[in-house]
Amino acid sequence: MRMVDLILKKRGGQVLTAEEIQQFIHGYTEGAIPDYQASALLMAIYFKGMSEQECADLTMAMVQSGETIDLSEIKGVKVDKHSTGGVGDTTTLILGPLVASVGVPVAKMSGRGLGHTGGTIDKLEAIKGFHVELEKEAFIQIVNENKIAVVGQSGNLTPADKKIYALRDVTGTVDSIPLIASSIMSKKIAAGADAICLDVKTGAGAFMKTVEEAQQLAKTMVQIGNHVGRKTMAVISDMSQPLGNAIGNALEVNEAIDTLRGNGPKDLTELCLTLGSHMVYMAGKAETIDSAREKLETAIKDGSAITTFKRFIESQGGDGTVVDDLSKLPQAAYVIEFSAEEDGYISELIANQIGEAAMLLGAGRTKLDDTIDLAAGLVLHKKIGDQVQPGDVLVSIHSNRENVDDVKEKLKASIRISKQKQAAPPLVYKEIL
Ligand code: URA
Ligand code: CA
Repeated sequence: MRMVDLILKKRGGQVLTAEEIQQFIHGYTEGAIPDYQASALLMAIYFKGMSEQECADLTMAMVQSGETIDLSEIKGVKVDKHSTGGVGDTTTLILGPLVASVGVPVAKMSGRGLGHTGGTIDKLEAIKGFHVELEKEAFIQIVNENKIAVVGQSGNLTPADKKIYALRDVTGTVDSIPLIASSIMSKKIAAGADAICLDVKTGAGAFMKTVEEAQQLAKTMVQIGNHVGRKTMAVISDMSQPLGNAIGNALEVNEAIDTLRGNGPKDLTELCLTLGSHMVYMAGKAETIDSAREKLETAIKDGSAITTFKRFIESQGGDGTVVDDLSKLPQAAYVIEFSAEEDGYISELIANQIGEAAMLLGAGRTKLDDTIDLAAGLVLHKKIGDQVQPGDVLVSIHSNRENVDDVKEKLKASIRISKQKQAAPPLVYKEIL
């Protein structure tokens, strides 16, 4: 079929066949189909949507556009977790060692990425000596021995997604649920996941601003996963305010260590236990979700979670003693307090704006070649619903520059205090199985 006929077919609201979708993905990746035709098709998909079968076919066509990672030499069910991204989302750093400590193999491929803080790899590199350059054999051997390893992204995975994502970015077709869902799922499947646990965020700091949109995206991804033989589930969680208290690279490593020891923030701990229980259950390491959760709680209490983290760090060249001496993490030159000027209850902590305040300090990057200040960031002392008095410290600003007036301005605009008592938002809105 000619590309123009494919565009017309979708524009008319008809369903594309697997062959037609493959023809488009293959032709576009190769450069045989020009950007203008690809753009027109993407816009037609944006307006007309895609069926469950089309979404699955698009996902698999993108998986097949490049290399795939074969994790079959790793024993057990490889469960990958994916978060749609948010502010101060420390869950990967915690969940990896946590589920590994009860026997779930974690073979994680991670990127640096753009955002308010660095990606998981940047955070881990706040630990002296830690490196993510592992040969495939070493990676597999470490996972088989220790149950966990993290490698940097390598190989030519899902080139079709890279090319299409860049095109969507400049053609007004990013926020299409079938396109987002197939983009995310293609990357997880190409990276070798047998089962996938999705954390779909909703709220000001998230891609999906409402619970309804988040639910739609989650359902589409779960359908795709199950359709192509990867057990998939999703949790819809709150990102109206940042998760946990720390936003910043070394600060989040510190928070992860606290949480693995059982001293973490309540919301972050709860979300990790929720996601972790599903991962353990999907990996077949517990009979029920409840018993999976008990195992994880025990691992935190008896120290096996933090011991697994330490072993993981050391197996990749890092200084494991950081676990017992957090002052070995990069420290900012200044810690400046931002305090309340009135009394009342915290009613808003607008996640994306707080993330931007962390960016001003250098905690994240806007371009891939930006350098990150690993020590910089914010620690929240109050969350939505907490009562405050004038003078109470709301946020500690960890900075390598002395003047942080711009950061304080940003924080002022992102934190609201109301006279009425406020309830904290729900942490988990829904689970989609
Ligand atoms: N994240 C992705 O990986 N793909 C999208 O399309 C949107 C967000
Ligand atoms: Ca956090």
